[in-house]
Amino acid sequence: MAQQTASVFRPDLMKGKVAFVTGGGSGICYGITKQLMAHGANAAIFGRRKAKVDSAAQELSKETGSKCIGISGDVRKIETLEAAVKQTIEEFGRIDFVIAGAAGNFLAPLDGLSSNAFRTVLEIDTLGTFNTFKSTIDELVKTKGSLIAISATLHYTGMPLQAHVSAAKAGVDALIRAVAVEYGPRGVRANCIAPGPIAGTEGMDRLMPKELVDKHTSMIPLQRYGSIDDIAWTALFLFSPAASYVTGTVSIVDGGDWHMSGAIGGAPYPDAFSGAGEAPASKL
Ligand code: HXC
Repeated sequence: MAQQTASVFRPDLMKGKVAFVTGGGSGICYGITKQLMAHGANAAIFGRRKAKVDSAAQELSKETGSKCIGISGDVRKIETLEAAVKQTIEEFGRIDFVIAGAAGNFLAPLDGLSSNAFRTVLEIDTLGTFNTFKSTIDELVKTKGSLIAISATLHYTGMPLQAHVSAAKAGVDALIRAVAVEYGPRGVRANCIAPGPIAGTEGMDRLMPKELVDKHTSMIPLQRYGSIDDIAWTALFLFSPAASYVTGTVSIVDGGDWHMSGAIGGAPYPDAFSGAGEAPASKL
């Protein structure tokens, strides 16, 4: 399936709306913010490094013609999020969309994972998502808004070198289901997006060895890495009225990647499974 590079959404779809985005200074969350703004929303992006969020906010405003402010803080410290929400309300008067996207990751076997290392990733990903929810939820109730947490597919299987992130993202999925159930009656929707391998992100650039990229791509059913816009289109849908009956879900945007985690190592995929010529089993 070729990449969808142009928006299929109405250009003013998000006009009058305000997004609050943790981790919006780069990668996937920057890309989602850009598309929300390109469709009319204003935004506040929140990240640890002040210079980075400030320059990202400037760039987003310039690129889209909507307004973005950068706010620095740490999702592990709820008081920094509470101050950021206050600043966002002072600036824009409302929050309609929240993205809990700040994340931490590194590759480490369980042997090399200290208690502090495990806790650090749980605190950034799981506690950080809780803190983001907790500090924005009153505003979302007022606007009958919507929250998206960025999850992953790592925890669907026993992914080596990622025990910490797998545990953290499983917690994110569980939390978002509970938010959907407890806040649905108050008009708030909550969902996760679980990205697969997305090109041009810190996660892939830093964590995926370059020599494995071609082999990995050939093992993905849709035969390519995803783009940041692939994730942004899903976020736009989930925030749009088209998703008004969608809550408590995980949208997996991975080209079918995680279904292949049980594939037979070394099998000539996809040729052996294409259905052309010989029976697949005889090619293995
Ligand atoms: C083992 C490690 C380690 C490594 C850090 N630690 N890196 N252990 N292997 N490679 C340990 C440290 O030794 C320490 O434990 C503990 O983790 C905390 O480390 P700090 O550096 O003090 O933490 P901090 O400064 O808060 O930084 C957090 C971080 C860092 C997660 C370690 O990498 C970070 O800030 N990352 C943010 C950006 C990021 O990772 N983005 C990518 C997200 S991608 P000890 O015991 O020594 O004190 C993503 C997508 C998932 O999430 C899907 C990917 C395919």
